[in-house]
Amino acid sequence: MAHIQTIKQIAKYKADLNQKFIVAGLYQNDKLTPLSQSIDKNAGQIKAAIDSGDFKGKIGENRTFYISGNTIVIIGLGKEENFDADTARKVAGQASRIAIQRKTDNILIECFGGDEYSQAVGEGAVLGSYQFLDYKTKTKDKFELTNASILGGNEDAIQKGFAIGKAVCLGRDLGNHPGNVSTPSHLAKVAKDIADEGKMKLTIFDRDKIEEMGMGGLAGVAQGTEEPPKFIILEYFGADDKAEKPKILVGKGLTFDAGGISIKPGGKMDEMKFDMCGSALVLGVFQAIASLKPKINAIAIIPSTENLLGAKAYKPGDILTAYNGKTIEVLNTDAEGRLILADGLSYASKHYDPEFILDFATLTGAVLVALGHIATGVMGTDESLMDRVKTASKNTDEKVWEFPLWPEYCKQIKSEIADVKNLGAPSQAGSIAAGAFLKEFVGKDIPWVHFDIAGTAWGGKPNSIEPKGSATAWGVRLVLDLLNV
Ligand code: BES
Ligand code: MG
Ligand code: ZN
Repeated sequence: MAHIQTIKQIAKYKADLNQKFIVAGLYQNDKLTPLSQSIDKNAGQIKAAIDSGDFKGKIGENRTFYISGNTIVIIGLGKEENFDADTARKVAGQASRIAIQRKTDNILIECFGGDEYSQAVGEGAVLGSYQFLDYKTKTKDKFELTNASILGGNEDAIQKGFAIGKAVCLGRDLGNHPGNVSTPSHLAKVAKDIADEGKMKLTIFDRDKIEEMGMGGLAGVAQGTEEPPKFIILEYFGADDKAEKPKILVGKGLTFDAGGISIKPGGKMDEMKFDMCGSALVLGVFQAIASLKPKINAIAIIPSTENLLGAKAYKPGDILTAYNGKTIEVLNTDAEGRLILADGLSYASKHYDPEFILDFATLTGAVLVALGHIATGVMGTDESLMDRVKTASKNTDEKVWEFPLWPEYCKQIKSEIADVKNLGAPSQAGSIAAGAFLKEFVGKDIPWVHFDIAGTAWGGKPNSIEPKGSATAWGVRLVLDLLNV
């Protein structure tokens, strides 16, 4: 939990503000931001650096000045006409990063770009401050930025950005913890904390109940592990009309994926601790809901287990019966995510009358081949819901790309001896096959979009708001935008 814990908004800059470390901006056309101007009024040092041609204000550039006993860092904001929320978020993140490098905890950040970017600046300051230090025991390796002030901007929007940033950090922590810590029981405990804070109803089914209820997908995958599986349900009814149709989020909570009997190769297998990032995204969203208390009805559903191998493990050729009664021929035990999601989607469809269902899963290596670490693959059954997803994606700069779920693809998951099989056609369209499989478990007429986050949940190029080697909690911001939180 190493990130900014409190943000204070300061309405006006006063030169005698006891703030030793100040971060302000410069646009690429030599234009100082309001805070840079106030600071440089008498000293003229910043102007001198610009005039010398040494400091151009490009994105990523920064210079330090020492003025009236304060350390002033000026960050390049790029061209003013190109400035947008994404830039505001990233430069605010850079400000936090610089404070951490310099080991200072008394930082004042300008609300770059003005009031309309307040939320993005609040988010960026927190995201840039995120570090995963829980397993570093030497204090010299650690410096945590815990407080920041933001000058200017809109107080409510800054605090909203702060709450969203914290929710993303929670999602990252869940992903970054190793598989021996971030277990299904751990996810259940975090869900309990969120439920307590947000006055939500929490229901958890354990192994016996999962088997008794006929959740054959989750029960099948969980056969190979002694770690207790969990089926977690969080219910939040915040709309004025409690009967308003809820929005349902389903997240893959596979806390370690060895592949099962169809075991994975050893290289990078450690990364399969991230196979619960779908559930981390959903819990991150619900953490933000708990703190912001929006007027919506929303349900989280998380099927969670490990996928290991052993004497009791499920095997290629086994046939499982999912919660909606459909039979599944297992041709590869490593295609396990779709099996546990089958029960999550069936449960959501049977027990609620949702406005829509969204599911999130690190589901296929194939999506990484198609889109790299840049975009999440999405597919679904409802055009207008897909349009809302794409709009939220643009608003938050979390990129998605749609794949088709045409009947030709959907036929590829039909089984000779059961209703469906957990593989598509050999060596082709692997991400679509997984989507086509999931579609079988979504109730007819329920708008649904599936997000395959296997490329975006970790592993991308680091930047000022995405630390190296960390889970990203990709999608928390997109989904909150979509839900109008
Ligand atoms: N968790 C993996 C998907 C994955 C692979 C995520 C690599 C991130 C990086 C999933 O359970 C899986 O193993 N999928 C298989 C499916 C295949 C057997 C049809 C895959 O993609 O190889
Ligand atoms: Mg797998
Ligand atoms: Zn998996």
